[in-house]
Amino acid sequence: MSHTSLEGAAIMPNGSKIKPESDYDVLYRIMTTRMSVRRIRPDPIPEEYVEKILEAGRWAMSGANGQPWEYLVIKDPKRKRDLYDAFQDTSTEFCFWMEQMRPFELRHPAFQVKGDDLKDEWQKIRNSTGGQQRRPWHEAPVVIVVLGDGRRQWATVNAAFTFGRHASHFTDGLANTCTHMQLAIASLGLGSHWGTVHVQEPLKRVLGVPDLIDVYLIISVGFADIERKPGVRRDLKELVHRETYDMSKFMSNEDIIDYLYKLRGKTMFRYHLKDSLLPGAGDKKG
Ligand SMILES: Cc1cc2nc3c(=O)[nH]c(=O)nc-3n(C[C@H](O)[C@H](O)[C@H](O)COP(=O)(O)O)c2cc1C
Repeated sequence: MSHTSLEGAAIMPNGSKIKPESDYDVLYRIMTTRMSVRRIRPDPIPEEYVEKILEAGRWAMSGANGQPWEYLVIKDPKRKRDLYDAFQDTSTEFCFWMEQMRPFELRHPAFQVKGDDLKDEWQKIRNSTGGQQRRPWHEAPVVIVVLGDGRRQWATVNAAFTFGRHASHFTDGLANTCTHMQLAIASLGLGSHWGTVHVQEPLKRVLGVPDLIDVYLIISVGFADIERKPGVRRDLKELVHRETYDMSKFMSNEDIIDYLYKLRGKTMFRYHLKDSLLPGAGDKKG
């Protein structure tokens, strides 16, 4: 049996102390061990986990507390499959062709193809089950679609809509609710990833979402079927300025291109479509 010291540390029978994790430690651990999981087991997850994820989402910050989010929870296998097919045939197909406009190494790794017949290469990606890194996300037991109601952004100050600031309070709020949910998912020992929606209309048709409501994000949730890999982030010293902007850290436009080549080199192994994309392949560029 253990007892507790004055500082709150647990004292073990042999006298050693185990310091309890502070709130920050717990939060930091969740933030840094969460990773995007694109290969999820089909096994069901407890219903109360879904409620906990949604509950975390609803506590997000939003401009003037407008709370522009709604959540659509899908478990029916046919509906998940129909949604996936609509997503693949519009959003993913669109991404594939847009990415072919960039130099090979700067394309998103999922769309770096070398074959002569691009249509054929697209079909291979479209019909792929994703190898060891991915599984089609409709196989996840639960898919949460995050919806946005643009009218609720009118809760916020008018300044949010002027001088090129677009309607960013809307998408900022939606991103916040999604981040809350992603952290809650990680804290429950589950996996998920951020499924950006580029073309929403076909998805609305599958889900019966009214015209005035946006389909913002697809969050597939379940137990991970993949080992955790260390995350990749820029060092703090590169991105923190003290008192005034430190111009030695300012990147020229040329530096940015170099940065993107290096970033692809470090992160592309996560996506892995071909052996040529494994670690090391991107190092050739510097
Ligand atoms: C705005 C945004 C868009 C993203 N879009 C996608 C996406 O469409 N598909 C995907 O698999 N991951 C997507 N991601 C996940 C990122 O690729 C991932 O968070 C990043 O590479 C860092 O990896 P980590 O989440 O494993 O730490 C997106 C993340 C954000 C915040």
